[in-house]
Amino acid sequence: MKGIVLAGGTGSRLYPLTKVTNKHLLPVYDKPMIYYPLLTLINAGITDIMIVSGRGHAGHFLELLGSGAELGARFTYEIQDEAGGIAQALSLAEDFADDEDVAVILGDNIFQDNIHATIQSFESGAHIFLKQVSDAARFGVAEVDKSNEKILGIEEKPEVPKSNYAVTGLYIYDNDVFDIIHTLKPSGRGELEITDVNNEYIQQGLMKYTVLDRNWSDAGTFESLLKASIIAREDKESK
Ligand code: DAU
Repeated sequence: MKGIVLAGGTGSRLYPLTKVTNKHLLPVYDKPMIYYPLLTLINAGITDIMIVSGRGHAGHFLELLGSGAELGARFTYEIQDEAGGIAQALSLAEDFADDEDVAVILGDNIFQDNIHATIQSFESGAHIFLKQVSDAARFGVAEVDKSNEKILGIEEKPEVPKSNYAVTGLYIYDNDVFDIIHTLKPSGRGELEITDVNNEYIQQGLMKYTVLDRNWSDAGTFESLLKASIIAREDKESK
């Protein structure tokens, strides 16, 4: 399985922290933010990883991460010219993925869980990771039928969430994901939405999910950036 870290986008919610640098290079406790999603993939046994970044600070990612050898991985770099959405950023990895399955992680997502077992047992379709949160309206929100453990649908940032299950920024897809992205139309905010990709897999009956046991945070707002550092420190202290 190939790994893809998505680190494009504008980081506008963190301005002025992101005025002269990229969001994914900001500190989260004792490491630059992008180390965390990279290590989530590497700890799951994925070492062939593409990093998709915006054009502004692409050189800084190279300087920081190099070939990947220091982390026991091999990194390939790609540029997303404009922030056209998470699914659009993912589409740039189509050639890199070749015919393989992909594990996709957002560059601002900090996980404590180890996803090694789920990655190793993945066969086909798609798999997402949910986390119960108190501010679900900020995320993609999954409606889950607990009687048969099926996801009925996902709504992107709903005003009235149907559950408190946030869809976290970690997705496993078979290679069909690239065909699905080719069929997408831009959303109201002008982006190709990863939620539309996931809903397609749900429609086809091919979506599985896991509810995370341990802590998770994004780091795209001042509050969540602070929470991400606290989670990272807690994780380090527990080891
Ligand atoms: O953090 C989980 C949430 O991430 C999910 O619950 C949502 O369903 C999903 O849409 C996303 O929501 P956000 O609004 O928080 O995404 P944001 O625009 O902040 O982008 C998150 C990361 O995705 C960002 O750190 C880098 C990558 N990205 C984003 C965009 C819009 C790109 O690589 N390119 C892009 O064009």
